[in-house]
Amino acid sequence: MKNKILLSLITVMMTVAVEAQEVPQVANIMSRETMSLNGDWHYIVDVQEEGYYDYRMNPTRWGFFRNAKPQKPEDLIEYDFDKAATMRIPGDWNTQDERLFFYEGTVWFKTSFQAQVPIENCRTLLYFGAVNYDCRVWVNGHEAGHHIGGFTPFNFDVTDMLQNGENTVIVKVDNKRKAEAIPTQIFDWWNYGGITRDVLVVKVPETYIENYKLELQKADVNAKQREITMTAHLNKPEAGQTLTLTIPELKVKQQCVTDAEGNASLTLRIPSKRLSLWSPDNPKRYSVTLASDHDVVADSIGFRTIETRGKQLLLNGKPIFLRGISIHEEKPFGGGRANCTADAHTLLSWAKELGCNFVRLAHYPHNEYAVREAERMGILVWSEIPCYWTISWTNPDTYKNAERQLTDMIRRDQNRANVIIWSIANETPHSAERDLFLSRLSKHARSLDSSRLISMAMEVTSASNYKNRLQDNMNEYVDVISFNQYIGWYRDVNDAPKMEWEIPYDKPVIISEFGGGAKAGLHGPKNQRWTEEFQENLYRENIGMIDKIDGLAGTTPWILKDFRSPRRVLDGIQDYYNRKGLFSDNGEKKKAFYVLQEWYEKKK
Ligand code: GCU
Repeated sequence: MKNKILLSLITVMMTVAVEAQEVPQVANIMSRETMSLNGDWHYIVDVQEEGYYDYRMNPTRWGFFRNAKPQKPEDLIEYDFDKAATMRIPGDWNTQDERLFFYEGTVWFKTSFQAQVPIENCRTLLYFGAVNYDCRVWVNGHEAGHHIGGFTPFNFDVTDMLQNGENTVIVKVDNKRKAEAIPTQIFDWWNYGGITRDVLVVKVPETYIENYKLELQKADVNAKQREITMTAHLNKPEAGQTLTLTIPELKVKQQCVTDAEGNASLTLRIPSKRLSLWSPDNPKRYSVTLASDHDVVADSIGFRTIETRGKQLLLNGKPIFLRGISIHEEKPFGGGRANCTADAHTLLSWAKELGCNFVRLAHYPHNEYAVREAERMGILVWSEIPCYWTISWTNPDTYKNAERQLTDMIRRDQNRANVIIWSIANETPHSAERDLFLSRLSKHARSLDSSRLISMAMEVTSASNYKNRLQDNMNEYVDVISFNQYIGWYRDVNDAPKMEWEIPYDKPVIISEFGGGAKAGLHGPKNQRWTEEFQENLYRENIGMIDKIDGLAGTTPWILKDFRSPRRVLDGIQDYYNRKGLFSDNGEKKKAFYVLQEWYEKKK
């Protein structure tokens, strides 16, 4: 018993010795000095969270995070990561272990890496591109931090937890759905659990550039000179640091000095004729370097403006029609979370083949590779947080969670020229509580980034026979009025030609979803549900109908590719897939693909 008390004391001292510390997301992780922890991690499925709670449901000090090993033959340790199976990280667990296809609960992961510490005047951060959904991280038995939210990056300062030689990282991931979560407990996509994006060990100076933003200021299309503002923030409130912004191709090298909060800003004035604006037809990006006294980050940044004028959407001051498509973050073949440039390139190439200049990355922030690949390919982006359906509008923690995900989505992609719309919700039921929750989110988004447009996927509120009137109090908090409609799928396709749409807001309109399902290869008369002909006819009727909508500035039909959903259970047809894709889950085009492609060709 004495030994156990002594061991407890040592454990408590060890745990107390090092404070857990989440630090704000480091901007542009791809330009940092990193060591990848991607690879095969050991994992233990822990249905009752035996590795975290004792049999009275109190957090235990003897949890799996200690990675304990028997010291004496009689010692009782009922887990051993090093004997456990491994799975590829990044990667969801559902598609890597058939026992976990439907699994919703806790899985523990373990990896290790070598380090030589301390590193003079440097901090070491442990970065996760995303973990779905609730994640706790330990380094050498010290809790590094706890993060909630399945689709945005986070990082912990683990400097003081490291030891020379081998360091052990243990991660507890719990993807159980909860009413108070964001998203809530029902959503029409697969609840892929696990460490679904990159894990990196990041070396940064003690004082580093935490985030920065370059923004082309709006101006008359014939302006002789353009202004580009830069704001930057250090991780510490250090005044007097000199920041140097360099853009060689624009002959820019300009400096500014940080204030007492560690903030700095400057304005570049560039002759218009020297500046090539980013657009889908000209996805021009400039090599940019930002250096402080101790840090330097490199990026490739495009310059463009996006704004509305009445019902017009203006890119670089000129009207644009958004030929879009919605996309879930699923690998092009075989399902599972997409998480690399190759996945993104295939999906975005399909969108390009469709004739798209725009994609709605539904219903959550996609991985950074996808946003950057779309930027390189000249594809505009609608990026969204998963405030989806029946959110717990009156729960303050739910709001904080939503606001945190919105902040991290914006912070990560605020320098991506192709991102033009931040979306704060999808198909949320009307109520005063919902309006308060979402209006706060809208104001928060605008406070972080006034250069982009705000929207949300609304629902048509009243449809008396053929009159569809969009009425949503949130209209004053968005720049673009977007709504989902399913004439032909959840309503009769023969009504399409008779439909009238009343949208009483002087703002551009995006149909953020329309479409219907088809099983690839199933053929029959056009009134037979689930045939490709049914979906083809639905697209034809819908296009004829929406093309008449006043102020239509774009569409993002639902959806590029069939995707897994636990809500789609029709045997032989859905088999846990939502079949509204224009591509099947094997990458085969359905007949409706060509209907949309033909329309987009005309809209160019
Ligand atoms: C909704 C929802 C989508 C869903 C789609 C459907 O509009 O936004 O997430 O997949 O309908 O019913 O297929």
